[in-house]
Order: sequence, then C-alpha cells, then structure tokens
Amino acid sequence: MKATAIAPSNIAFVKYWGKSDETLRLPANGSVSMNLSGLYTITTVEFSSSYTTDDVVIDGSVHEKATARVSAHLDRIRAIANTNLRAKVVSKNSFPSGTGLSSSASGFAALTKAAVDALSLNLSEQELSILARQGSGSAARSIPDGFVEWIKGATSDSSYAYSLYPPDHWKLYDVVVIVSDEKKSVSSAEGQTRAETSVFYETRMHYIEQKLSEAKDALKKKDFERLGALAEREAFEMHAIMLTSWPPLVYWTEATIAFIKQIHAWRKEGLPVYLTLNTGQDIHALCEEQTVHRLQALLRDLPYVKQIIVNTPSTGVRQSNAHLF
Ligand code: PMV
Repeated sequence: MKATAIAPSNIAFVKYWGKSDETLRLPANGSVSMNLSGLYTITTVEFSSSYTTDDVVIDGSVHEKATARVSAHLDRIRAIANTNLRAKVVSKNSFPSGTGLSSSASGFAALTKAAVDALSLNLSEQELSILARQGSGSAARSIPDGFVEWIKGATSDSSYAYSLYPPDHWKLYDVVVIVSDEKKSVSSAEGQTRAETSVFYETRMHYIEQKLSEAKDALKKKDFERLGALAEREAFEMHAIMLTSWPPLVYWTEATIAFIKQIHAWRKEGLPVYLTLNTGQDIHALCEEQTVHRLQALLRDLPYVKQIIVNTPSTGVRQSNAHLF
C-alpha cells in the first residue's frame, strides 16, 4: 500500500488571500495561476498495520507541527477509504521550503495524490483538487495541468481548480529569484486569517471578479504586458493588505525591496519583465522566451541573488515510480 506522487508548486496571477470558511479552507475569492516546472515536491506514502503513528519526514527532518497537519490531512483520506491504518510519509522539495515559494501547494497536492493512490481510491481530478484544498488552499491549483483557475465555490464540493489551458498554451517564464532561504515567521495559513482586519480588504473584494476576467482574457490572448502588469499590481495589492492587517505582516527583506526597484529600473530601460510575490522574501520575475537569457545574465551580476530557478508552465500532479523509501 505504497505510492509516490510529484506535484508542482504554482504562482498565482490573481491571488488567494482570505477565507470564507476557515475549517473547509474555502477562499473568499477565486484565483488564477500557473504550475511551475522547476519547483516541485515528491512524496511517498505507505499505509501499513505495522505503523502505530503517522511518521512524517520532510526534507530529512521531522517537525511536530508539520506532522500534525499532514496527519489531519491523512485523516480526511482515511475517512474516504474507511480505514484507520497509519502511514509513513517521506517528502522532498526541489527548492527551499517555508520561504514563500509555496511548498505547501506542491506538498499537499503530492501528499493527496500519493495517499489516495496508496489506498487505491479512484478519485477524479476534481475530487483530488477538493481534497488537496483542505490541506492547503493553493494546493487545489497544483492538481490540474498548466494554467489553472480555482473557483471559489460556496460549499466544499464546489470549490476546486480546473485547467484553463495546458502547459504548451504559452511559453511564459517565471524566474524565481531567491534572496534568502530564511523561513518566514508567520505561515500563509495564519497570515490569511488577518486579511479582513485590513481596511483595503473590502475594496479588493469589490472588483476581484473583474480582475479574474481580465487575467483569464490576458491568458487567452497571451497578452504578456497585460498579464504582467495585472500580476504585479495584484501582488502589491495583496502586500498592501498584509501591511495594513493587524498585527501587520511584513514578508519583505532589504534584498526584496532592492530587487523590486531593480526590476522597475530594467523595465524603464525597456526590458519586458514584471514581478509577483507570495508570502516571503523571494521574488518571481515574469518574462517571455525572448527575454529570459538576458534576464538570467543580469541576475548573475546582482550580489544579493543567492539562487535562481527558471520555470515554464508545468503539468499538474502525477504518479511516479521513484519511491523515496
Ligand atoms: O495555500 P496557502 O495557505 O499557502 O496560501 C497561499 C497564499 C499565496 O501564496 C500568498 C497566494 C496564492 O494564491 O498562492
């Protein structure tokens, strides 16, 4: 009863920030994202009567908080399979976790698929997305392929993600720029609970549907300038909400701000590159194929850039035979 799955992380152009139901992880708004080819998690799950507890190893370490969250997610899957077998879970990320690169998205998508397969449950993509969402909201979007929309839904069964376009629809690049691998002090899950304390939150909700339509239209037309500008404004809007929440959430470091200014300077000089950010200090630089080599060369000269990961659109979660134990 062992299975392994690989799932990509994803970057949202229209973000998920705020929930309408905390327990079910129903989002306050829909979101649109792209799965990332270079940021992924591989997870092996084995259920066996020889285990007395859930044993969870992530990137070689055991963490009590992570084990509790994984175990709670396995409980949802055990309930469907009508079993109380405990499991061994080994998971590895291809990138630094807990730094704002959405390892919870790839992690919970891979965990969901591996656990479901290990228990031989025959679930549809939609059902997998609904399940993954309950582990970590953004994980719902790492299940389908390529460019994805997560419909907010009003109930658990109507809140899931589906593929808008396959990965080969558009060779968009997301160059992840790692400026530090320091772990964030407030998780996205906790930060999300503060969203409504910002005075800007309600304003955001007024025009979010319009923004979602614009993002989908820009994706359909492969209009880079429009999508890039929308994604960047959206990232700053989300961070404006974080900064004005109480207690405030400040995820940026000096290097983040230096790099934001650098991108703006490059853009002024004519380099078509936009940025987006999640809950962390690292930055996603968005560009098209004709710009990516020049961007990489420029990045090499910046002293605060520790690592770059070049991503193109990726398929969603998939099964693998490369078991980790
Ligand atoms: O799924 P969570 O709880 O890690 O929240 C993800 C939140 C953001 O990454 C900041 C935005 C998004 O839509 O991915």
